[in-house]
Amino acid sequence: MAEIKTVAIAGAGTMGQGIAISCALAGYTTKVFDVNEQVCDRAIALITKTLNQLAEKGKITPTASSEALSKISISTNANQLKADLVIEAIAENLLIKQNLFKQVEALNTDKTILATNTSSLSVSKIAAGLNNPKRCAGLHFFNPAHIMKLVEVVAGAQTEPEVLTSLKVFAKSIGKVSVDAKDSPGFIVNRVARHFYVESLLAVENDSASYETIDALMRASGFKMGPFELMDLIGIDVNYAVTESVYEGFNKATKFKPSPVQKAKIDNGELGRKNGKGFYAYSQK
Ligand SMILES: NC(=O)c1ccc[n+]([C@@H]2O[C@H](COP(=O)([O-])OP(=O)(O)OC[C@H]3O[C@@H](n4cnc5c(N)ncnc54)[C@H](O)[C@@H]3O)[C@@H](O)[C@H]2O)c1
Repeated sequence: MAEIKTVAIAGAGTMGQGIAISCALAGYTTKVFDVNEQVCDRAIALITKTLNQLAEKGKITPTASSEALSKISISTNANQLKADLVIEAIAENLLIKQNLFKQVEALNTDKTILATNTSSLSVSKIAAGLNNPKRCAGLHFFNPAHIMKLVEVVAGAQTEPEVLTSLKVFAKSIGKVSVDAKDSPGFIVNRVARHFYVESLLAVENDSASYETIDALMRASGFKMGPFELMDLIGIDVNYAVTESVYEGFNKATKFKPSPVQKAKIDNGELGRKNGKGFYAYSQK
């Protein structure tokens, strides 16, 4: 089984940040790469803030917080992607992910594991163009990744069993609970959860209820967050891309149809918490 000492993460957005915090808190040297310099700067600031908050709340010690921070580096230099395990958390787009992994493969030896955090795309297709598709698998975290314990481990058509074992051992080492999921659109959680979003958006579109009312009622019925608050947390663009991908993956089944309400938000540049406005407004501080 491959020993994982260094972890690289592609994408310093919502998920890349949370995954980096989980890895660094577990003691891994964690190198993060993003194509966007501003995103790198923002990610360093947000990771620092999150680690400080965890220490202030007594969830971790101040020493653990500063040690974790010292293990994380973030940059636009692609050499960041040299590691024993590379986890990609970039745009939910097949071609972009395929190209990134080709780049990762060229930078590393054939021992490196390539893990995709895709929410909905086919792991087999992401791996298909690689020289060594056996080393590629799905490792699907949930948001916020430094808090949520669950990860779905997804075998592609060609993934070798040793890679899956290494990923499960790794997941455990960073405090996660792994579950095997089949390589089908949306895997398990995102497929089932689609209706939480799609049906709520349809209710707003049909003027059956406001989004604030739906959120309040879902919270009152036991959900931690309502669907619109959750879409804001996830990123409305990311959530929409996942719905589109699941819709395509299930041959345009009406029950997965993407919502024009959500599309309008994206067209308006309202992406959720990450840029200060989604269904609700957020302070960017
Ligand atoms: N947001 C969620 O709740 C959530 C949960 C689980 C999985 N995911 C999945 O994780 C992935 C990332 O989602 P996110 O919410 O972090 O997105 P995000 O938009 O917050 O961040 C994506 C980042 O990737 C960067 N990027 C784009 N192309 C790149 C490239 N070629 N190389 C390096 N960086 C690149 C962008 O600059 C951006 O900073 C997606 O596949 C998404 O489906 C998201």
